[in-house]
Amino acid sequence: MSYAAFYRRSIEAPEAFWAEQAKLIDWQIPPRQILDESRPPFVQWFAGGTTNLCHNAVDRHLAQRADQPALIAVSTETGTERTYSFRELHGEVQRVAAGLAALGVGKGDRVLIYMPMIPEAAFTMLACARLGAIHCVVFGGFASVSLASRIEDATPKVVVSADAGSRGGKVIAYKPLLDEAIRLSTHKPGAVLLFDRGLAPMGLVEGRDHLAAPFLEKHRDARVPCTWLDATDISYTIYTSGTTGRPKGVQRDVGGYAVALAASMKHIFDGRAGETYFSTSDIGWVVGHSYIVYGPLIAGMATLMYEGLPTQGLNRQPDGGIWWQLVEKYQVTVMFSAPTAVRVLKKQDPALLKKYDLSSLRALFLAGEPLDEPTARWISDGLGVPIIDNYWQTESGWPILTVANGVERTPSRFGSPGIPMYGYKVKILHESTGEELKGANEKGVVVIEGPTPPGFMQTVWKDDERFVNTYWKSVPGKLVYSTFDWGIRDEDGYYYILGRTDDVINVAGHRLGTREIEESISGHAKVAEVAVVGVADALKGQVAMAFVVPRDGAVLGDAQAALALEGEVMKQVADQLGALARPSRVHFVGVLPKTRSGKLLRRAIQAVCEGRDPGDLTTIEDPAALRQIRQLLGVQE
Ligand code: PRX
Repeated sequence: MSYAAFYRRSIEAPEAFWAEQAKLIDWQIPPRQILDESRPPFVQWFAGGTTNLCHNAVDRHLAQRADQPALIAVSTETGTERTYSFRELHGEVQRVAAGLAALGVGKGDRVLIYMPMIPEAAFTMLACARLGAIHCVVFGGFASVSLASRIEDATPKVVVSADAGSRGGKVIAYKPLLDEAIRLSTHKPGAVLLFDRGLAPMGLVEGRDHLAAPFLEKHRDARVPCTWLDATDISYTIYTSGTTGRPKGVQRDVGGYAVALAASMKHIFDGRAGETYFSTSDIGWVVGHSYIVYGPLIAGMATLMYEGLPTQGLNRQPDGGIWWQLVEKYQVTVMFSAPTAVRVLKKQDPALLKKYDLSSLRALFLAGEPLDEPTARWISDGLGVPIIDNYWQTESGWPILTVANGVERTPSRFGSPGIPMYGYKVKILHESTGEELKGANEKGVVVIEGPTPPGFMQTVWKDDERFVNTYWKSVPGKLVYSTFDWGIRDEDGYYYILGRTDDVINVAGHRLGTREIEESISGHAKVAEVAVVGVADALKGQVAMAFVVPRDGAVLGDAQAALALEGEVMKQVADQLGALARPSRVHFVGVLPKTRSGKLLRRAIQAVCEGRDPGDLTTIEDPAALRQIRQLLGVQE
């Protein structure tokens, strides 16, 4: 079937289309109603059906591939490398599930997971899925204040964590950050389960903290059956940044997600049972949920979980070839990474790409940020396999725009992530009138018309109103989902993504909210006002840059005092939110550019930082404010 026909069917006959896709997974009771869109923008997929993500990811494969690899865990940080077969994974997951159950975790309870990239993190996610508990994974790079707001919102019964993560040989102790986060949160989890890697000492809180090894030993051979869940039950929440400082819990279902992932593994990633999938993301991000843990396993593939830098060998010596060494060793067929990582590798000797036998590899998928042409060409020439850009979001759970080579081979275009995937009605609308822009290369907001396909977020955790108001009411007069990305479509239907319409920035593929960073900075006693913007960066895509009006004007004329305060502000952000949110620079100014009604002109600041025209400034209160920023940065008017 041509992709055009496949796509058309998904839009014109969604029930028939998705009923067919639903056969890719196991159901305990098959769905009664494929699609229920009686309450837009809410959508229910596969109502009446019961299933379980862990069953589909693990148990289902025992009959045919119990002794085949399921999870390959490699850490160049600790020099460990271990393969778990499906049978072993089944055992590990049940042990954790039994431990969680002993701590009182059952269906619908939240379990917050704050862990490094160790196999136990995947066991815990799958154990939650098995019990019908809702997991909330928080990226290990976040620090105590970010973690606290997530604990507060998720109100977990249990937190699962570890003593430490490690990055480039630098140990990051998690336990003190977790303790501080629990102290800051008004919600206190009943229990904390801690995996001890022997990297950092841990003080245990009596009655609350349990060391995983002795605790789980009691459940060594536990048998915990999968809890059958309604397709529309909640599988997990994952927090993501938006326009406000308060992160949103993106909530996903069980059945729709399982079907969406199974379908994407077949039609988009073309991954086959018995093969190995390698995603270099982290379980703390949506890519890690969909394409480290659930997607590959549902497809019966082994998933390779890697802890370490892309440029560091097993012995922790610099080795820009580690990924390719792993591809060769584990015969990886499908690989998934981010443009940032490739830009890091690009600095290495290109001969490294030729050193290993990469003939098993069929494609490299890149997502998370715009893929620039030089990076795409470099890796494409080096690997000699298709480089497939794919555009999506935490909210969607799987690709919105890409090419579906599993359906029909479709050429990619440099600079474009591709065309709409089956199930997605993607449109470009005029920012203020909401008019659809049908012409080629007309710039507007990329939106999705309902019903959203399976796998798409159900709502914002505990806040239906926020879900509707944030995502579905931003375009005047129309109930459409806004991606908050600018885009254009060329004459052949290929889309191009031109950056966010809101205050979200993308640092090395990590989605961050500038408002959260601003809130952290404005908490500093010496800060009167602050604006944070994302500025283009050759390696990281974007970096955060802060413009601060200090309380003490003296800082403005005193280079040394300014430098000291810059250091303090940077440290505060790193301590509260995590190193990834730390601004690359903090500049001090007398006044920030605002409109006469007092709205910060972030887009104008960003334009000036990038040497672009700031556009229409008729509403600016004080034009000297932008001039001052230009002078600071040494950019021409
Ligand atoms: O701005 C878009 C950018 O990343 C945002 C979503 O980030 P996140 O929720 O972390 O999900 C990442 C899932 C891969 C989008 O709104 N983005 C993502 N992929 C691309 C992209 N921008 C350009 N090209 C892409 N391929």
